[in-house]
Amino acid sequence: MTRHLLADDDLSPAEQAQVLDLAARLKAAPYDARPLAGPQSVAMVFDKPTLRTQVSFAAGIAELGGNPMLVEGRLAGIGVRESVEDVARVLGRQVSAVVWRTFEQSDLELMAAHAGVPVVNALTDEFHPCQLVADLLTVRERCGGLAGLTVAFVGDGACNMGNSWLLAGATAGMHVRISAPEGYLPAEAMFDRAHRIAATTGGSATAVPDPVEAVRGADVVVTDTWVSMGKEGEEAARERVFGPWSLTTELLAHAAPDAVVLHCLPAYRGKEIAAEVIDGPQSAVWDEAENRRHAQKAVLAFLLADGATDGTGSP
Ligand code: NVA
Repeated sequence: MTRHLLADDDLSPAEQAQVLDLAARLKAAPYDARPLAGPQSVAMVFDKPTLRTQVSFAAGIAELGGNPMLVEGRLAGIGVRESVEDVARVLGRQVSAVVWRTFEQSDLELMAAHAGVPVVNALTDEFHPCQLVADLLTVRERCGGLAGLTVAFVGDGACNMGNSWLLAGATAGMHVRISAPEGYLPAEAMFDRAHRIAATTGGSATAVPDPVEAVRGADVVVTDTWVSMGKEGEEAARERVFGPWSLTTELLAHAAPDAVVLHCLPAYRGKEIAAEVIDGPQSAVWDEAENRRHAQKAVLAFLLADGATDGTGSP
């Protein structure tokens, strides 16, 4: 069966741990896994802006022995010039995997249903699972483990990163608190989905609207832009309500003394995060950005091996 990473809970707790172990291994030995040797091609399709995702996938696919093939979303016109299903059928005949950044999760699901090769979510409006593998790898490096840690996500909880932290954090057995102004929390259905996972891992998923209460004692504090791609035009309205959720030194002071700060970038200093925080000693954001490559290599190796082995091609 072809495996995909469309949402964070496509990986079971055991599989998430397996992918994280492989990512750590490939960080230490970047050329140990060559599942794309040939080279086989991987299509990278972007319907939204990208920096980290494009370069980390391109570098990572090359390190896996493969050929990173950039497909310009605007030229391909997926769903406009031709249907998602037809694009999927064509891509699947040319490449070994498809990495797609787009808007609708349902389009990504259509791609996965028709491509016949693994499809990886490189960010949709709903989820950003590759970022979460990198984030969890970063937390593991800093804290030595994941289960039982408390993470506070402050800011736009209704965006892809809020949803992904709920699902991936619960999968890792973490206690996930989402803090956002009214109207910007994840949907109830997303909390329900996280609760079902947390019941099997010992984690938890809670809405804690008050940012000070959310951050209190947290081991990890995460934020993200208040204006996600596709929400341009809502800047003024969002800035009016998000102020108290800005990750300042004062807010961070309520977390555990050595709490790790994450931000998926791009960051807007003075808005969702203060310069002294993102550029300060508790920030792990540059490791987090580097870890995208190691994380995504592990995801690709895992999916290409159908999850049947450790993804390195070794017995
Ligand atoms: N929530 C942000 C993440 C950027 C990597 C966005 O969707 O724009």
